Amino acid sequence: MANFNCNTIFLFSLVMFFFCYGHFVSAFEFQVGGNKDWVVPPANDTKIYNDWASENRFQVGDTLRFHYKKDSVMEVTEAEYKKCNSTRPNFFSNTGNTVYTFDHSGSFYFISGAAGHCERGQRMIVKVMAAEDEDSPSGGDAIKSSGAAVSSVGVSKLVLVQFVMSYVVASVMF
Ligand SMILES: *[C@@H]1O[C@H](CO)[C@@H](O)[C@H](O)[C@H]1NC(C)=O
Ligand SMILES: *[C@@H]1O[C@H](CO)[C@@H](O)[C@H](O)[C@H]1NC(C)=O
Repeated sequence: MANFNCNTIFLFSLVMFFFCYGHFVSAFEFQVGGNKDWVVPPANDTKIYNDWASENRFQVGDTLRFHYKKDSVMEVTEAEYKKCNSTRPNFFSNTGNTVYTFDHSGSFYFISGAAGHCERGQRMIVKVMAAEDEDSPSGGDAIKSSGAAVSSVGVSKLVLVQFVMSYVVASVMF
């Protein structure tokens, strides 16, 4: 039987923390449209949701919060999005306060299920990146430096794992 003392447990906790750290940090909740509600956009400015979505970077695990009254949210296919076809959504909610979690990367298509609202611009395409593709939370210029930070975290993880594994092997053998 291995002699797992407090130090071993502490080191394991440390390693688990490092492994989990990135996932906890990267999950983020976005309020759709910034601080706006999910409503029919003004007639002279129908692209507000796609403009908002293209200014943000979404990752797997992130969530969208839709806030609205007497309306609904649907996640549909690209073809359904283009036609504002709300007959068979993949996801539907009309609670007034909907949280949608991105469980995979790729494009997500949202429309309002209220009659005529999608046609008037209440719809949105969101492009979601895989968590591993993360290069920068704010985009643009920070890509290189944050890439370096990511790889140094990778190295410290590896070193920690090797250290703990040799410690465990030592505990088992003696
Ligand atoms: C849309 O019209 C409103 C007034 O009706 C105006 O205040 C606003 O600036 C216009 N927006 C755009 C993008 O033209
Ligand atoms: C709407 O989508 C459904 C299911 O995807 C399809 O069966 C139907 O023909 C579509 N309707 C229109 C008008 O495209």
